[in-house]
Amino acid sequence: MKIIGTGSALPEHIVTNEMLAGFLDTSDNWITTRTGIRTRRLLSTETLRELALEAARKAITSSGLRPEDIDYLICSNVANSYVSPSLGSIILGQLGCSCPTFDMNGACAGLVYSLDVADAFLKAKNMKNILVVAAEQPSRFCNWHDRATSVLFGDGAAALVVTQGEGFKDFRLTGNTHTEVMYYKREMQRTPYDRVEEKTEPLVMNGREVFRLAVESCIDDVDTLLERNGMTGDDIDLYLLHQANMRIIECIREHLAQPKEKFPTNIQKYGNTSSASVGILIDELSRAGELKEGQTVMLSTFGGGFVTAAAILEWSDINYAK
Ligand code: ACO
Repeated sequence: MKIIGTGSALPEHIVTNEMLAGFLDTSDNWITTRTGIRTRRLLSTETLRELALEAARKAITSSGLRPEDIDYLICSNVANSYVSPSLGSIILGQLGCSCPTFDMNGACAGLVYSLDVADAFLKAKNMKNILVVAAEQPSRFCNWHDRATSVLFGDGAAALVVTQGEGFKDFRLTGNTHTEVMYYKREMQRTPYDRVEEKTEPLVMNGREVFRLAVESCIDDVDTLLERNGMTGDDIDLYLLHQANMRIIECIREHLAQPKEKFPTNIQKYGNTSSASVGILIDELSRAGELKEGQTVMLSTFGGGFVTAAAILEWSDINYAK
């Protein structure tokens, strides 16, 4: 499987750390030194559906395909205002696609989870082209009086078109139950019979524990993939990691003893955009010509669950002048 099209879309509204310090007991210095985040984009007048559509249209255009050439749409999304239908179903018609679709909730690892499924579909189901969209609004999970979580997130969408061919070499996915370290709960409708009270709880996160799990599990995924493919850290040209915290990325880089230039980031501008983060990074680097033909790339992502997904691929150039 290889990537033949990329796209991304971000909300217009830029929110700086100083703006947050206007109503939260926080500071630019605290947020920057603890996370690396300087600004984030938050949905205000747009909807997540519009971002998802924009990213998907850009990805299809850059692939050179027509919407009707897409055989499957997998949409990575943790939550949006519609529980049903899926976000994939909502955007499918407006994209002009008429293929099967479903939403994937692999938390912040959802894009790489979706790519793994796409790879299996391409091999097993005789399909040609799959559109993977990751669209997330994690800012809407947070309690905006809670300085420990609301400063971390941003909204955004990314999309990739994948097709049969040489590119992805290997995937590694893991899952564990660690509900207590990070969760967001929504109250459902009551029935006359339910006796278990459940209430909505905005994002609850044990930041230190998530940090520890993230570093440990990403290192485990990357080391396993390298060993399994007879490679060392030096054989990877670019490490594209989930953009959750600059210090998490730095811990993984130090473990691998690799130079900073191999770890491009955009968390400074966008914060943690959940499963969209690594896709936005891929799209920006590819359009800027910083992802080059033949480069070996490691993707490594993690998220609530606790789940992780990593992959090794060889990059093929995309012609955006179509
Ligand atoms: N501004 C100022 N002070 C703050 C803020 C803030 N925004 N948030 C917390 N603090 C305070 C705390 O109250 C605490 O104060 P105290 O010492 O008086 O009790 C102090 O700062 C230290 O708090 P810690 O939580 O220990 O700070 P830490 O260095 O661990 O950094 C952080 C917190 C940034 C959340 C870090 O733990 C982290 O990044 N964890 C991973 C988070 C993450 O990646 N989540 C998402 C992953 S999965 C996904 O992407 C959905």
